[in-house]
Amino acid sequence: MNPSRKPLVAANWKMHKTPGDTVSFMDSIQKETGPCEDREVVIAPPFTALAAAKQVLKQRGYKISAQNCHWEEKGAFTGEIAPVMLRDIGCEYVLVGHSERRHIFGETDEMIRKKAASVFKAGMVPIVCVGEVLDEREAGKTFDVVGAQVSEALNGLSATQAEKIVIAYEPVWAIGTGRTATPQQAQEVHAFIRERIGAIYDKEVANRVRILYGGSVKPDNVDALMSEPDIDGTLVGGASLEVSSFKRLIQFLK
Ligand code: PGA
Repeated sequence: MNPSRKPLVAANWKMHKTPGDTVSFMDSIQKETGPCEDREVVIAPPFTALAAAKQVLKQRGYKISAQNCHWEEKGAFTGEIAPVMLRDIGCEYVLVGHSERRHIFGETDEMIRKKAASVFKAGMVPIVCVGEVLDEREAGKTFDVVGAQVSEALNGLSATQAEKIVIAYEPVWAIGTGRTATPQQAQEVHAFIRERIGAIYDKEVANRVRILYGGSVKPDNVDALMSEPDIDGTLVGGASLEVSSFKRLIQFLK
């Protein structure tokens, strides 16, 4: 982390927890951690639990995020949710382009670009996920793949929007596998992403963007990851589902 950027710890609950489970989790985690002044905590429950999560948000520093959205504002898109609907129930962030959306549901860079733009338009901030699969890493293509994903997501965004965006680098081979990137491997890609943003906009914009690491973040590796200069937070799946482990992840380097 770098003290000029506020760290962000995000919980991606994927398809877990009912509204009832969400309320009890949110009550306990906020009680146990208290207000977060120097870090932001973002919880992304399923759509059905967002309203319940919003109702029990009490502590400073806590925010809610959706896990996905459509790019249109309204219309005949059965089963989809528009960004304005998410803003209306109190979301401040939306995850966009998670690898499960890309690989299981066929989302393309173009769809992700449209989603990121529409999240901004609705007054929220997209957390855009990027990352290479194992074959790409082994073929030495990590920078090509991640660079293209980042450039495409930023395409068309103004510098004022770009500096607010959150990028989550999640090597696909590390998600849910227990196999984390080493802090050095993650730092290398984070520095590359920041450089790419600097090349598209300028150094000032690049220095403001928060870049999270995701992929098997756990209580025993979080401090080492957060000690790297370009890692500004974490996006956590499995270890965000239990209050005790998520509490430890919020309290990194304390
Ligand atoms: P994991 O998931 O922490 O369970 O690896 C991370 C993610 O998918 O965002």
